[in-house]
Amino acid sequence: MLKRTILPFCLLTALFLAGCSAEPQAPLVPKYKTGLDKKEIKNSAFGKQFPQQWQTYQRNTQANEAEMRKTETKYKASFPFRKNDDTSPPMVGKPGAGQPYLKNLWLGYPFSFEYNEGRGHTYAVEDILNIDRINRYSEAAGLPATCWNCKTPKIPSWVEEFGDDKFWSMNFNLFRSKERIDVNEHTIGCANCHNAETMELSLYSVPLKEYLGRKNIDYNKLSRNEKRALACAQCHVEYYFNEPDHGPARKPILPWDKGLEPEDMYVYYSDKGKAKQGGGFDRFADWIHPVSKTPMIKAQHPEYEFWYNGTHGAAGVSCADCHMPYTRVDGKKKISSHQWISPLRNDEMIDNSCRQCHTDKTAEFLRERVHFTQDRVYRQLLTAQDLSVLAHEAVRRASEWQGEKGADFNAALAQAREMVRKGQFFWDMVSAENSVGFHNPSKALETLTLSQQYSRKAVELASSATKYEIAKDLEGDVRTLVPPIMEWSRKLMMDQANLDKHVWTRYLKPLPKSELVWDGQERKTPMKTGATKQGIGPVSVLQDK
Ligand code: HEC
Ligand code: HEC
Ligand code: HEC
Ligand code: HEC
Repeated sequence: MLKRTILPFCLLTALFLAGCSAEPQAPLVPKYKTGLDKKEIKNSAFGKQFPQQWQTYQRNTQANEAEMRKTETKYKASFPFRKNDDTSPPMVGKPGAGQPYLKNLWLGYPFSFEYNEGRGHTYAVEDILNIDRINRYSEAAGLPATCWNCKTPKIPSWVEEFGDDKFWSMNFNLFRSKERIDVNEHTIGCANCHNAETMELSLYSVPLKEYLGRKNIDYNKLSRNEKRALACAQCHVEYYFNEPDHGPARKPILPWDKGLEPEDMYVYYSDKGKAKQGGGFDRFADWIHPVSKTPMIKAQHPEYEFWYNGTHGAAGVSCADCHMPYTRVDGKKKISSHQWISPLRNDEMIDNSCRQCHTDKTAEFLRERVHFTQDRVYRQLLTAQDLSVLAHEAVRRASEWQGEKGADFNAALAQAREMVRKGQFFWDMVSAENSVGFHNPSKALETLTLSQQYSRKAVELASSATKYEIAKDLEGDVRTLVPPIMEWSRKLMMDQANLDKHVWTRYLKPLPKSELVWDGQERKTPMKTGATKQGIGPVSVLQDK
């Protein structure tokens, strides 16, 4: 499918991101006149005008349990099973259902409370309202309004209402009531990707628009296929929350200024933390891991960064080619499917997406080729995960070492922590990427190889700091040395007895005992005095940072 003639053009224009583009054999999209207000964001308002796209959009929601079961593939499914074990039905015993150390590796950070498999766009608001990562036991969510950024087309109106300098660091819980957001009308939808008046593709994302601005890239001059991929790059990317020393607190930023490779982002993060006393900036950290006292970076779903220079991205095959294939609804003319799912769900889906190009291959062959990559990536992912755990444990033991120390004990431990941070970030880049390596098989495997090398280096440095005295204790099966923490939640962390159950959780302080304040959109405890009608107190009191 690669159109060789376009290569020189690509080189000439030296495209930054999507590489060269093989334009889809798609019917050109007309410029519509919808008559909608340019600030319209309600999904049903668009749906009335475009009933066919609307019909496919609604398929993102499964009607019942039986429908949900049909979404399973070897490693994925469109229901929120727990990613740290293989005990939550119906994923029991499946290869992709258990990365047992997730709670250990994210200990001290809200991700350790709950982390599930993703599902359709229509669930985005409902799912964020119910996840244990956001603190529902307190007025303050513990996480900023920034978390709404990839869940709803409401963002531009909220930024306008409160200001770019204030909105992001506001309390997440201020925006969760029914007065503020509707789970269906305001979940990820039409206005996130389209201009309401013309339905042309258009960006709502502040971090992506600002990145393009910093690189002097004019969105309007990009090719159609680049726009089709950038629609997804608004959310399916790595990002971080800005430290106040660098601009508006908690604002989302894409860490791409040095490039889109894991190493580029790692270097980028090295001076995005708090201002140092002697000048300059510290390393950026999402949290400090309580066991090894390492400043950590949490990676987030870098689909775009893996795709862009993988086999398909480099050949100009866009996200939409595989995840929004052309389909007929009611026997009418072809439209882009607005059901964003795994193309491997069934043979018909593979026909619609993959076999538009790979016409000479069967659906079965293509599925097996994807599994060939995924099986190999997943095995190395688990090895990298185990080594990251061992690295934290080595630093923990070395830092508490009471025997004779190496001459450069402190320097060796500092370097060991740097390697813990790097090893885990590289592991997480692949763990958080949602295709289990398929979007870029060779990059996924190299990233995991590097992760393993960095984690081994951390173990080596920590051991050397103790003159290798701890080395023999670190041998053997890591699963016995550091048992996986299988259950962890805000509720469990409120009780010291639960903290005492595992060597690692003993490094945490218990959370204050409290009852649910929010259950979904429903308030469980009465409002505090001075609270507004929106359900919570004055904004100034509720700033998280
Ligand atoms: C995540 C991004 C995204 C969302 C959300 C989205 N679209 Fe689209 N839409 C696209 C892309 C990508 C195309 C293909 C554009 C192209 O090929 O130039 C498209 C194409 C279209 C088209 C042009 C005809 C076609 O089918 O190709 C219409 C009409 C449309 N979408 C309507 C809607 C409606 C209605 C909604 C909300 C229910 C919606 N879209 C939500 C990304 C999105
Ligand atoms: C506004 C942010 C946003 C945009 C834009 C966006 N996504 Fe998503 N996507 C999400 C979120 C959030 C989820 C998980 C929702 C959940 O689990 O509740 C998701 C889930 C998915 C899934 C998993 C669905 C499943 O059934 O498991 C696929 C596939 C997907 N997106 C593809 C795309 C593609 C392709 C594009 C571009 C055309 C795109 N997304 C644009 C935020 C976005
Ligand atoms: C060549 C086809 C192809 C392209 C191009 C592609 N993907 Fe995928 N994607 C896949 C396959 C295959 C999977 C694995 C699905 C599985 O294992 O069930 C996948 C998985 C995913 C998932 C997880 C789906 C799930 O069920 O949870 C998301 C999200 C996703 N891709 C987003 C993107 C985004 C965003 C882009 C562009 C930046 C992109 N994809 C480009 C084929 C593609
Ligand atoms: C728009 C065209 C297009 C679509 C759609 C497409 N591919 Fe490809 N695929 C390519 C191109 C181009 C290559 C690069 C090799 C080549 O030049 O033939 C490729 C290569 C591959 C390879 C070999 C390289 C590798 O990364 O392992 C596999 C396997 C593959 N595709 C599977 C799929 C699957 C599965 C889907 C659907 C989920 C899919 N492709 C959808 C165009 C496409």
